Amino acid sequence: MRFLLVFTLLGLSLAPAAANPVRPETLGSAAAIEAAVDRLLARMTLKEKIGQLHFPSLAFPHEPQIEAVRRGEIGAMLNVVDPRYIKAFAAAARESRLGIPMLYAIDAIYALKITFPPPLAWAATWRPDLAELAAYDVAREARALGVNWTFAPMVDVSRDPRWGRVIEGAGEDAFLASAFSAARVKGYRRGGLATSVKHFVGYGAPEGGRDYTGTEISTPELLDRYLPPFKAALDAGSETVMASFNTINGVPVTMNRALVTDLLKKRLGFDGFVTSDFVAIGELVAHGVARDLEEASVLAFKAGIDFDMASGGYDLYLARAVADGRIKVGAIDDAVRRVLRVKYRLGLFDQTEADFANLPRPVDDAAVRRSAREVARESFVMLKNDKAALPLTAATGRIALIGSSADSAQHDHSWWGPSGHQKPETETLRAALEHRMRPGQTLEYAPAFADPCGREFKDKDAAIAVAKRADVVVYNVIEDCEIQGEGVSRTKLGLSGQQKTMLDALAQTGKPIVLVVETGRPLVLAEASQQADAILIAWHPGTEGRTALAEVLTGEVAPSGKLPMTFPRAEGQIPMSYNVLPTGRPWTGSRYTTGYVDEKQTPLYPFGHGLTYTTFAYDKIVLSEPKMPVKGTIDVDVTVRNTGSRAGAEVVQLYTRQLVASRSRPVKELRAFEKITLKPGEARTVRFRLKAQDLGFHNDAGRFLVEAAPYTVMAGGSSDTALLADFVVTRD
Ligand code: NOJ
Repeated sequence: MRFLLVFTLLGLSLAPAAANPVRPETLGSAAAIEAAVDRLLARMTLKEKIGQLHFPSLAFPHEPQIEAVRRGEIGAMLNVVDPRYIKAFAAAARESRLGIPMLYAIDAIYALKITFPPPLAWAATWRPDLAELAAYDVAREARALGVNWTFAPMVDVSRDPRWGRVIEGAGEDAFLASAFSAARVKGYRRGGLATSVKHFVGYGAPEGGRDYTGTEISTPELLDRYLPPFKAALDAGSETVMASFNTINGVPVTMNRALVTDLLKKRLGFDGFVTSDFVAIGELVAHGVARDLEEASVLAFKAGIDFDMASGGYDLYLARAVADGRIKVGAIDDAVRRVLRVKYRLGLFDQTEADFANLPRPVDDAAVRRSAREVARESFVMLKNDKAALPLTAATGRIALIGSSADSAQHDHSWWGPSGHQKPETETLRAALEHRMRPGQTLEYAPAFADPCGREFKDKDAAIAVAKRADVVVYNVIEDCEIQGEGVSRTKLGLSGQQKTMLDALAQTGKPIVLVVETGRPLVLAEASQQADAILIAWHPGTEGRTALAEVLTGEVAPSGKLPMTFPRAEGQIPMSYNVLPTGRPWTGSRYTTGYVDEKQTPLYPFGHGLTYTTFAYDKIVLSEPKMPVKGTIDVDVTVRNTGSRAGAEVVQLYTRQLVASRSRPVKELRAFEKITLKPGEARTVRFRLKAQDLGFHNDAGRFLVEAAPYTVMAGGSSDTALLADFVVTRD
C-alpha cells in the first residue's frame, strides 16, 4: 500500500507513455480497434473471456489443448515452435465459436537458428541501432515459425554479476539500459513480434545475487534506477509487460496492485496487458501470502495481472470468484479488453488460413549471419593490451592457441536454447585464425581440456609444451555454459573449472598471453589480469562470433566495445557500480573512511571502459552556456582526437553530477554517449544536448524534482572521465 500514496505524486519524468502505434495492416485507428474489441466482448461468455487470460504449461501431445482452443478456452500457447502444431492451433482457433486468433509465445531473445551474442554484449556495442538489428533478425526467425509474441526484452538493471541473468539485460546503468530497451522493442516489433518487456520490476536487485530472492528498493531507487527502461519500452510500443518473480519491500510484484495497476497501468498509461512470469501466481503460496492457488489467483488478478502464465489458477478459479463477487465482471472485461486490443494491434484478426500455409517461412540466413557478425565484432571489449600484444600481426611469429573452446563449434552457450530450427554451421576460432595466418606466422593448437568448457584437463603438458614453443599464447577460456542464465547464481566469479590452473601454468612459461574470455557476466579477473598481457572479453559471441573474434585478434577489425557493467576486483565488492552515492567519509587510505581494508576501493575495470588498437585524447569540453533554466538545455561540445596510428572507434561518454541537492546524488550519471570513428590524427567535436529536465530525480514521496543547483558535466572514454566543466541550473 505504501506505493499507492507515493505514486500519486509522480512527476514529469513519468508522464503517460505515447499511444502505442497501430500496425498498418490492422483496423486502421485506435478508435476502430476499441469499437471492435467492445463488439467482440459483448458476444463472449465468461468462459471464453477467461480463456483469453492464460496459457497452460506445455504438454504433449497437444491434442487436448487444441480441443480446448476449439472450445474458446485457451487464447495463447507457450513454446509451440513446431509449425505443424501452430497450424493446428490456428485452425482450431478459427473454428472456435468466435474465431479469436491465438498468441504463440517463446523466449525469442538472441538465439533461434543463428545465435547472436547475448543482450549484455549488445549493450557492450554501445550501438542501440545494432541491438535493433539483432532483435529484428531474431524476431524474423521466430515469425518464420509462426510465433508472434516474444518474452523480451529483459531490461532489468543490475549491479550484481553473481546474478546469472545479467546476461539478458543491458547492465548496470538506467540510461544505457533505456536506450537498449527502446531499440530492442523496436527491432522485435519490426520483425513481427509483440514484445513483453520484463521483468517488471526490480528483479535485477536480488538479495545476495540469488535468483528469485526478495529485493529492498526505496522509492527513488525504484523510479530512477529500475523503472526508466520499462518506460522506454512502453514508449517504443511494447504491447505487453511481464511481472517479475521477486518481492519488493516484502510484497511480491505478482500481487502488487500499487506497482502493477497504479504505477504501470494508471500512471504510465499502459493499455496493453500484463502477464505473470512462469507459474508465478502459484508461487504466491510459497511466498507465504496466499493459502492456496485460488487465493493466489484472486490476489494476482486484483493486483492487475491480466494473464496467468501456466499456473492454471485463472482457468480453475476466476469464474467462481466472479460468481461469489470476489471479482467483478468489469475487471475481467478490462483484462480481456487488453488482450484483445493487443491481438487487434498485431493484425491477428486479419490473418487467414493462407498466412499459416507455408510455415516455416524461409529466412535469409546470410543476412542474419551478417548482422550476427557485426554485433559480435562491435561487442568485444579489450580490457588491457600491454606491450601491444594485440593484434597478432605478421611480426607475431608463432602463435599457440590453447583451450578446447577454441576448437569447438558449439556456439549456443545460452540456456535460451535454439528452438524449432536446425543449428547452422559455424566456424571455430581455430579454423578462423588458421585462415588468417600470414607469411611468417604459424599457429599451433592444443585443447588442454577434455570438454569445451574447461572442466577437466586433457594433455595439459602438451598444451604447455605448445605454449613454450610459441612467441605468443592465445588462451581461450569460457564461462561454463551450465553456470549462467536463469537460476544460476555464483559466489565465485573466477574462471570456472580448471581454466585458472591452466592460466597459472601458462603464465609460468613467461610467454606473452592474450586471454580471450567468453562470458555472460562480469568475472573477477584480478589475478588473471596480472598474468595476461591482453584481455579480450568476447561474451558468448554466437554463430558468427568466432570468425569475428579472429578478425579482431588479427587486427582486420579493431575492438570497439565498452563495458556495460563494472568488472570488480573481488566478489566481496559486489554489488558494485560507477554511479554510487558519495559518502561522508571518502576513502583516504586511513581508518574510518569508506572502503575495504583488504582490497582496493576501485573496480578492476570500470563501467564504460574498453580499449582499441589506437588511442584517443580528450582535448576539451566547452559548454554553450554556464547556466541553464530548469526548462532549458545547454550544448556540451567534447573534442576527441585519435592520437594513434590507425583508425578506431571510440564511445564518447557524458556524465553529470548534481553537486548540491536536497538528497545525496550519485557521483556520476551517464547522460549521453556517441560512438564515433576517427582516422589517425583526426579530431572531432561531438555535440551533446543536455536538458535540465533529464537531470532530475525522485524523492521519497515519489515526486520528480529538477533542482536549481550547481552541476558538473564530465566526459571521457569510460566512467573514469577525462574532462569536466561546471554549470548551474537556475529557476528560470
Ligand atoms: C521464466 C523467466 O523468468 C522468464 O523470463 C521467461 O520469459 C519465462 N520463464 C518463460 O520462459
